Amino acid sequence: MAHLIAPSLLSANFLRLEEDIAMVNQSEADWLHLDIMDGIFVPNISFGFPVLNRVKKVTEKPMDVHLMIVDPDRYLEKFRESGASIITVHYEACTHLHRTIQAIKQTGAKAGVSLNPHTPVLLLKEIINEVDLILLMSVNPGFGGQKFIEQTYRKSRELKTLILDHGSDALIEVDGGVTLENARSLVDAGVDILVAGNTVFGSPDPTESIHLLKHC
Ligand code: DX5
Ligand code: ZN
Repeated sequence: MAHLIAPSLLSANFLRLEEDIAMVNQSEADWLHLDIMDGIFVPNISFGFPVLNRVKKVTEKPMDVHLMIVDPDRYLEKFRESGASIITVHYEACTHLHRTIQAIKQTGAKAGVSLNPHTPVLLLKEIINEVDLILLMSVNPGFGGQKFIEQTYRKSRELKTLILDHGSDALIEVDGGVTLENARSLVDAGVDILVAGNTVFGSPDPTESIHLLKHC
């Protein structure tokens, strides 16, 4: 499978979101990545349902919703109604992760689980056949524009082995500090989906950056 590109709206210009989403619509991007932060699980607050509901009306790309919130079970149905095609929760935020994954699937969305940089891949062993996607954080979550953590390559290779060993069809997504320089190495390390905030929206030519990431 050719790898997918998911521009992260967190780095877009919030005063002209519609234009930025139109750019993504017309680009080679595959998904639109949306970061939801609650100020508790991560030391930042981003945006919520009013924004998602507007984005839903204009995006032509599947909404890849990354929940950096505690107790996500309370809102799964609402995120689905607000347009999420993929709902990813954090391993570190879910006491009953197996139940949460089933609850996401029941909404009709694809179920993703994210690992913080310090969380080992091996902890996914018992749920690797239940999930559609694993999101490896390659920065500490909370902010765009941070420096990529190099151990992510090894983590991705380990995860790929775990997936293959269990006959799982989970996809690997990497989020944080993805650049035109490290994109190819990440794909070579088994990554299926590259999330990119700053590399896309901080670029003088975002459409071209998406093209370069897609053909890295
Ligand atoms: C960070 C978010 C990322 C962020 C990535 O907590 O999960 O999706 O937008 O931004 P860059 O690509 O700039 O590191
Ligand atoms: Zn994210």
